[in-house]
Amino acid sequence: MAAKTVNYVCQKCGASSSKWSGRCDGCGEWNTLVEEAAPESAPKGLGGKKGHKIKFQGLKGETEHPPRQISGIMEFDRVTGGGMVAGSALLVGGDPGIGKSTLLLQVAAAISKSQTPVYISGEEAIDQLRLRADRLDVAGATVALAAATSVRDIVSSLDVAGGPDMVIIDSIQTMYVDSLDSAPGTVAQVRTSAQELIRLAKRRGFALILVGHVTKDGQIAGPRILEHMVDTVLYFEGDRSHQFRILRSVKNRYGPTDEIGVFEMTGKGLAEVANPSALFLADREGEVAGASVFAGMEGTRPLLVEIQSLCTPSSLGTPRRAVVGWDSGRLAMIMAVLETRAGLALGGMDVYMNVAGGLKISEPAADLAVAAALMSSLSGVPMPPGTVVFGEIGLSGEIRAVPQINARLKEASKLGFSRAVIPTPPRSKQGATSGGSPSQGDMKITEVSRVEDLLALFSDGADNQPRKHSRHG
Ligand code: TYD
Ligand code: MG
Repeated sequence: MAAKTVNYVCQKCGASSSKWSGRCDGCGEWNTLVEEAAPESAPKGLGGKKGHKIKFQGLKGETEHPPRQISGIMEFDRVTGGGMVAGSALLVGGDPGIGKSTLLLQVAAAISKSQTPVYISGEEAIDQLRLRADRLDVAGATVALAAATSVRDIVSSLDVAGGPDMVIIDSIQTMYVDSLDSAPGTVAQVRTSAQELIRLAKRRGFALILVGHVTKDGQIAGPRILEHMVDTVLYFEGDRSHQFRILRSVKNRYGPTDEIGVFEMTGKGLAEVANPSALFLADREGEVAGASVFAGMEGTRPLLVEIQSLCTPSSLGTPRRAVVGWDSGRLAMIMAVLETRAGLALGGMDVYMNVAGGLKISEPAADLAVAAALMSSLSGVPMPPGTVVFGEIGLSGEIRAVPQINARLKEASKLGFSRAVIPTPPRSKQGATSGGSPSQGDMKITEVSRVEDLLALFSDGADNQPRKHSRHG
């Protein structure tokens, strides 16, 4: 009798190995290997048997655009690329408690006006779902609810003519296929369950939404392992101490990525935020040293956020550097450039940086706003009032052009900003582009080509005397 083979599978990346170890060789995560039964038989070769001939076709053909299911929740529809596509699979990932179930119950209720949605929960009882529906004020919507976790039962129930148009599975980590030995939430179960449901969605033509919890400790498989299987991947992010939530598209076979939807968690569920810049700038204190306003882009949307920094002399051998909402490696780079190219003495300073409101920024265009916030904190001089900043910084201290300058300026002007510090447009392109240099009404534009140029903003204030920041605290 052959010994039963076991396999250790990383719950984060799905890599498997025959030996247990504390750290996954695939992704480097600790404590994520879990014992799972090995597949029944190893894959065999083709064995000389002939298959059917594939028919090759041209790129052009009679393909109709797939029909879209529009929910009417604008922030959701935009992120999906204009509504969900029939027969496609969408994954919504996010931390537990961030609001995934709330969002999807609202989507189901909204879409029930034109389609037939089904909401299957493996986490909550029907009563709990009903209470939530009451709270969200959607109890009147025709959404078919079920509490189930067996994929076999779910597939049997949905594999019928005249089935639903949309199926929400909350969450994929609670689902199980009874032909597998491993527990629900393991890589094998999550993958197989998703595979079966996706296959059914394609065959029956309904839009499938899978909820996936992001986990820190690797006890259950994270949504990452499903990303390649689905057509669209959305992450629902936010800081639980702030009320706003961001739905971000990171993969979409049917639309653009990096698109975001902004919501606000209220006592009655998630409310759409049509003007996110106003929300992110709401708590701004006016002109204080150490703050700058970054005119960023999230997908096709301009978004204004405040960047705050604080530089204080350090009492430690190795000064502290702490960043919230931005990449700490990128901050280290900007600081090095500022020290070398603009002569800023940041070496003995503790440096703290924060993107106000809890937003996460990944755009290199934020470099210049970060540099401005650092210079402002160090000099004690606030940015000139009503100013936005954007631009990428290179290692030699040059300021590089960034895309969508006009959209950024327009948003800034709309929110009452009157001045912008932006990269000098590349010489070769001047005159060649239609419309010439960027302009936005009566906005005062300051073009900078090197980080040193920024220093002027903090010295040409009142009689060149750095003011002490008295407005703080
Ligand atoms: P939930 O949708 O259950 O999160 P997830 O499915 O991602 O785990 O939402 C959880 C939080 O949202 C919970 O802490 C309570 C809060 N909440 C509100 O603030 N308002 C509401 O109307 C609802 C339904 C939830
Ligand atoms: Mg939930």
